[in-house]
Order: sequence, then structure tokens, then C-alpha cells
Amino acid sequence: MAQEVIVLIRDVTILGEGVGTHEGLTIFVDGALPGETVRARITLKKPSYAKGELLEILDQSFGRVKPICPVFGKCGGCQIMHLAYAEQLNLKRKRVIDAFERIGKLKGFTVAPVEPSPKPLYYRNKVQLPVDKNLKVGLYAKRSHDIVPIEICYIQSDAGNKILEDIELVDGIRNVLIRTNRKGESLVVLVTRERPTPEIRKLAKTVSLMNGVKGVLHGLNSRDDNVLYSDAYTLLFGDGVLEEEVLGIKVEISPASFFQVNLEQAESLYKKAAELADLKKGERALDAYCGIGIFCAYLSQQEVNVTGIEMVESAVIDAKKNAKANGVDVDFHLGKVEDLIGELDDFDVIFLNPPRKGCEESVLEASVRKNPKKIIYTSCDPATLARDLNFFASFGYSKVEAFPFDMFPQTMHVEVVVKIEKEISK
Ligand SMILES: C[S@@+](CC[C@H](N)C(=O)[O-])C[C@H]1O[C@@H](n2cnc3c(N)ncnc32)[C@H](O)[C@@H]1O
Repeated sequence: MAQEVIVLIRDVTILGEGVGTHEGLTIFVDGALPGETVRARITLKKPSYAKGELLEILDQSFGRVKPICPVFGKCGGCQIMHLAYAEQLNLKRKRVIDAFERIGKLKGFTVAPVEPSPKPLYYRNKVQLPVDKNLKVGLYAKRSHDIVPIEICYIQSDAGNKILEDIELVDGIRNVLIRTNRKGESLVVLVTRERPTPEIRKLAKTVSLMNGVKGVLHGLNSRDDNVLYSDAYTLLFGDGVLEEEVLGIKVEISPASFFQVNLEQAESLYKKAAELADLKKGERALDAYCGIGIFCAYLSQQEVNVTGIEMVESAVIDAKKNAKANGVDVDFHLGKVEDLIGELDDFDVIFLNPPRKGCEESVLEASVRKNPKKIIYTSCDPATLARDLNFFASFGYSKVEAFPFDMFPQTMHVEVVVKIEKEISK
């Protein structure tokens, strides 16, 4: 193959690389968009694929726009900021349909248009940013753990960006976690390998005096890898939790527990999941993978009998507290869904909202055995979702209606809520 090729791009990968074919070989060209014809320099050639560097766009996509962020393309956070928002939504719907067809081998399913995010920018209520050797916060570069320094992140909240602008970091900080609520209040976690030094405590005090900061915590992360997660949190100043309201449910959020990052969009998604379930007063629902129990409390307010399962202990403690504070009664179980689901009674509707890797097969099997009227599956990965839908289809739950939501604008991620029912034979 020549060093330089001209290739028509037909698709985009999850990493944001354009995909085309040249002389029978698949070529990935970073930065190229579907519909574009580009000139690329081959940088890597393997028997089954090649990688190319974008040199020139010969025929430009009508959807191409100038990205607002100066580090777009270098930073690994966003993949498709160079594509107009309406086209991002079309691309995500195609991703879902492709996964259903290719991985799920599904037939006769429907996929609604992708619900746009109320905010295409500044939507994230949480950022976790590594710190470089010059004590600048940044984000990891594409496909590496090099840090790209940033002044502002265009997908995080204004309140979070204001803290980033004002904070002057000191030695020893590995990363900074900022969580904000809708009122613009924040929790800031300073993460280090060891116990906080006097210098870090001094910085924590300064941060605690910043506008809107409710609390400053220390996060301990002694691992040698690049994982940003902390093993233990200690409160240094102020409050250790943030108050938030989701669909009228009051919740307390602590730094460690799972909480949806695009809250306005999460509310639309929860509403859709409840609408699709269409539960009647007194019916029984299982919310597997329930996190801090927000959706459980929401269903429970509608006089549904709700059981929740969650494996993170602090999340279950928060969930119980949240249920009590909202005057609802939910039966929470601490443990893995795969270990507990079999012991529970039957349900009218089962809600599944697993992490990216999808459900264990034993969970799918147990769900089918309970013979629910419907399964409502919310997923953040169309590929594992499609795999699990294939399993359900083979057990008769083959009627699939999917509703994608754009929770993560400017990235290739897409969230999908799916109503799964038994096909009624005619
Ligand atoms: C995608 S989050 C969804 C949380 C919740 N449904 C919400 O909307 O806030 C997945 C949750 O499942 C929990 N989890 C992951 N694997 C689990 C398992 N095998 N059993 C029980 N919970 C699990 C995680 O701790 C996390 O809280």
C-alpha cells in the first residue's frame, strides 16, 4: 500500500476515528467524519487493518463544525466535537441499530430518534482530573496516560470550571474531583498517595472558602496505576455530602457513590423508563443495580412495591437514607445482583441498569425465570446491550423497543432504555 491514500469514510469508531476501506483493507483515520473523502498518510499497517493520519479533507462532511475546545483532538474526553449536534444524534442512533443487527442479530426492533441533551455543553456535574508535573490539571490524552493540560472543560458545569480557574495546586496532589449540584454548590476532593501534608491542608482551607464550595475532602489513592478512583475519603472542611433534587426526590450525594452526570437528561430517562413500565398501584418492581436508589424512590412514590439491589455498601446506606427522607418504603438488598436475584419473589417488571459490561448470564436467566410482563433495560453500551437482548430474544422476550438518550454530548457514548416484552404470536 502506498504511504498516502485517498479514502472515503463511512463510519466512526467509539474512539472517534473515521473508518474507510482502501484496496480491501480497513483504514482508521483520526478526525475524519462519515461521508468525507480524505487524503491520509499510513502510519501503521497490519494484516487486517491500517491507521492513517489525516492530511487533507478533499470532500468535507456538511456536518463538520469548528470545535469550541482548543484541545479537542488531543484530549481523550470528547470524540465528536467536530460534528454538528444534530449529526451526533444521528450517528448515535446508527450505533445502536448497528449493534442490534450485528451483535444482537435482532429483527423487527424499533429504535426511536435519540433524545437530545437539554445542554449540549457544560452538562457534566462531575469531573475528575489528573494533575501533571507542572501542577496543572488536565485530561488524559487519547489512547495514553499523558496529561493534556486544560484551562476549562467545555462539557463540565460552570461552577466546576470556576474552581479549576481559581485553584492553585501544590505538590503531592494526584488528581482533583469536583462534584456540583444544580444550585452551583460543589464538593472538591484532593486526591493524594499518602495522608495530606500541612501544605495540602492549607490548600483545602483556601478551596473551602471559594464561592459555592460546600466541602473539601481528601481522597486516598496509593495505587501505582492511573486509575483515578480513591479507596478512602476523609472530610477536611465543611460538608461531606451535596444535596440535590431529582424528579422531586431529595438526595444526598457523597463523592464515592454512582450518580448520573447529566442530571436533566437522567430525569428524562428515568421518566421514560417508568412510562414504559406502566406499573399499576400495588404491582411489584425490581430495580437491579439501583445505585443510591433514586429511581426506586420515584417508583415507590407511585405506590409501586419496589425492591432494589446494589453491591456498593455506601450506596445502599445512602439509598436507605434517601428513601426515609422522602417518606417512601423500598426493600433494599446489599450484594451482587447475580447472587441475590434468584432468592427473590417474582416481579411484574424488572428494571436492569448494569455497568458497561452488561449483565451476567445468570442475571438474564433469573430475570426470564421470574416471568415478568416487561423487562426495562437501561444501558450505556449498545454492544453489551445487544448481546443481552439476543439472550432475552432466545427465551421469547423478543419484542424490543429502544429509546436512546444523549447523556454525553460531544462523545461517542449513548445511553439506551429498552422495553423488552414477549412476542405475542398471532
Ligand atoms: C450504571 S449504575 C446505575 C445506578 C442507578 N440505576 C442510577 O441510575 O443512578 C450501575 C450501578 O450498579 C452497581 N453494580 C455494578 N455491578 C453490580 C452487580 N454485579 N450487582 C449489584 N450492583 C452492581 C454499581 O455500583 C452502580 O451503582
